[in-house]
Amino acid sequence: NNHVVIMAGGVGSRFWPMSTPEHPKQFIDVLGCGRTLLQLTVDRFSGLVPMSNFWVVTSARYKSLVEEQLPDIPRSNILLEPCMRNTAPCIAYAGWKIKRRYPDANIVVTSSDHVVTDVEEFRRVIVKSLDFTSKSESILTLGMKPTRPETGYGYIAAEIEDGSEIKPVKAFKEKPTLSVAKEYLSAGNYFWNAGIFIWNAHTLEQAFRTYCPAMASVFDLLTPCFYRDDEQERVDELFPTCESISIDYAVMEKASGIYVFPASFGWSDLGTWGSLHTRLPHDNHHNACVGENVKLIESQNCIVHVPKNKRVVIQGLDGYIVAEKNGTLLICKLQDEQRIKEFSK
Ligand code: GDD
Ligand code: MG
Repeated sequence: NNHVVIMAGGVGSRFWPMSTPEHPKQFIDVLGCGRTLLQLTVDRFSGLVPMSNFWVVTSARYKSLVEEQLPDIPRSNILLEPCMRNTAPCIAYAGWKIKRRYPDANIVVTSSDHVVTDVEEFRRVIVKSLDFTSKSESILTLGMKPTRPETGYGYIAAEIEDGSEIKPVKAFKEKPTLSVAKEYLSAGNYFWNAGIFIWNAHTLEQAFRTYCPAMASVFDLLTPCFYRDDEQERVDELFPTCESISIDYAVMEKASGIYVFPASFGWSDLGTWGSLHTRLPHDNHHNACVGENVKLIESQNCIVHVPKNKRVVIQGLDGYIVAEKNGTLLICKLQDEQRIKEFSK
């Protein structure tokens, strides 16, 4: 009765030009390992739940990308949003739909832009988490030990006095400012929110009813159409009326009864070029490279991401991103990567 919901409708704007609105990062083999981030997400859970219990929620424009990349997932489990409304409506849609057919379902909701290096430990944590929420009406989050005052993540404050592996949460704070993130880092009981939520279908529904009643009503209205021929038509009509808000602001910051499982399985959110640079193997000069014909001379701290057939020679660069995709070439200082969104316009 366990289900996995994969959120795969983001655009990955900080990863331009590799990630574009037409072909975002989750559909790309970012690591150069032969599998896209979406495929790696499914791989991590394979065997833990049957293929028929995987659900992918994405934008209608990415339908064929998902179908091509995940041929083993039933077509009817690919839920299509007519427009982007951030992650809260995405989760509500999947939650309501699963609950209609499987009222006692136990659900893991996950992002599709993560890298996990210790998959065995990840699976241990997921199995334990599902066991926890099968017996409890609580929302379980996974907490990663922070290593820097990252402002791109949510933070979870745990009750450290609690000696158990899964701890009650004092507060959930989405994306703090740098000075606040620094305080959290030194406090010691704060964890990064890994963007993975485990709850049973009943808890999920109740959370939306309590904190996002208007959104809950939209999906109540849609419920009779689920699994019917006119489902998509009705979704296209009503989904856009949902507020555009992330699950973190809509539910997690407000909810009580949240728990955190502090875990460590080599997690990172591949949100930026810098995060990819940290993740990839490096040469002796701290350069990381995806591409088959790249020569770096007197260069250091660079990340190069180019098509296989592209011959690239770089001399004298320190701390740069060199990335090419579909005829667009970006050369940008790594330290200015937060401005890439603006450069791509
Ligand atoms: N279906 C759908 N629709 N998916 C979406 C949408 C949408 O409108 N918007 C985003 N997603 C997907 C993305 O593809 C990604 O897999 C996931 O939802 C999370 O979205 P991000 O945009 O990557 O969020 P974030 O990284 O800024 O922040 C979230 O994740 C962090 C950890 O990775 C938050 O939950 C943070 O608190 C958390 O630390
Ligand atoms: Mg992300």
